[in-house]
Amino acid sequence: MLPKIICHIMSSVDGRLLTDRWTDPFNGQSKSELMGVYASIGRKLNTDAWMFGKNTLCEGFFPKQFHLRDTTPLSHPKPYIASHTSDRLFAVIDPDADILYESSTVRGDCIVAILPETAPADYLDYLQKKDISYLFAGAKGDDLRAAMQTLAEVFGVESLSLQGGGIINGAFLHAGLIDELSLVVYPGIDGSAASPSVFEYIGKEHLPARGQSLELLSAKTVQDGIVWLRYCFHKADLT
Ligand SMILES: NC(=O)c1ccc[n+]([C@@H]2O[C@H](COP(=O)([O-])OP(=O)(O)OC[C@H]3O[C@@H](n4cnc5c(N)ncnc54)[C@H](OP(=O)(O)O)[C@@H]3O)[C@@H](O)[C@H]2O)c1
Repeated sequence: MLPKIICHIMSSVDGRLLTDRWTDPFNGQSKSELMGVYASIGRKLNTDAWMFGKNTLCEGFFPKQFHLRDTTPLSHPKPYIASHTSDRLFAVIDPDADILYESSTVRGDCIVAILPETAPADYLDYLQKKDISYLFAGAKGDDLRAAMQTLAEVFGVESLSLQGGGIINGAFLHAGLIDELSLVVYPGIDGSAASPSVFEYIGKEHLPARGQSLELLSAKTVQDGIVWLRYCFHKADLT
């Protein structure tokens, strides 16, 4: 069983993600007010869990790294469910198992760290002491399908909103795990080829979205020129 995964993201009209580079609203509204629209649509998606990529989480919340004394892994690590719970969970994939958490929650939602099975026993011990749940994404921490299965089957997550950045969105796209795209288009431009876009797959596959097609479900003008587009994914069987 897998959760339903909705990639929920706000981009400029040129599909870029760095909000501080976008041009200002034409009508004098503050940019942050327009960002609030994205957040409120995100809440309305009403998913059991939401997720940021590691760069986005560390940039905005936990910039420090955990330094290990001993890197020995456990031979058969098991997922850990923290005692503290919240209505909604927050998940992050940390293939290096080195985020130093200053809190066990993000915006009030309990954290589930997704780790490689080779994560050091010391790091797992640290997470347990912080009362932070964890589960595994294969030996290297990159098996997104296995991680999503555990999130559904062990943590009871039936729906998840994947909220960027582009690299983690690209990894989920390549794994064929996205069921819906909820794209909130900000009425402004970045303009640079160097800025990350909605999907930034960094692996070897030439066409990471191969076999996937989008069906438009709805297109709404929200306010101040913001447009909310919802698409469902159709996936061809490529086996
Ligand atoms: N406009 C928006 O709605 C929005 C939303 C979110 C973020 N953003 C912005 O987007 C910017 C770009 O974020 P980003 O794309 O650089 O980073 P990201 O997607 O937040 O995080 C990418 C990192 O996740 C880790 N990772 C875990 N599993 C992975 C896998 N299977 N494949 C690849 N990487 C995996 C890697 O960390 P390691 O390399 O350390 O292993 C990778 O560098 C951020 O600056 C943020 O501010 C905008």
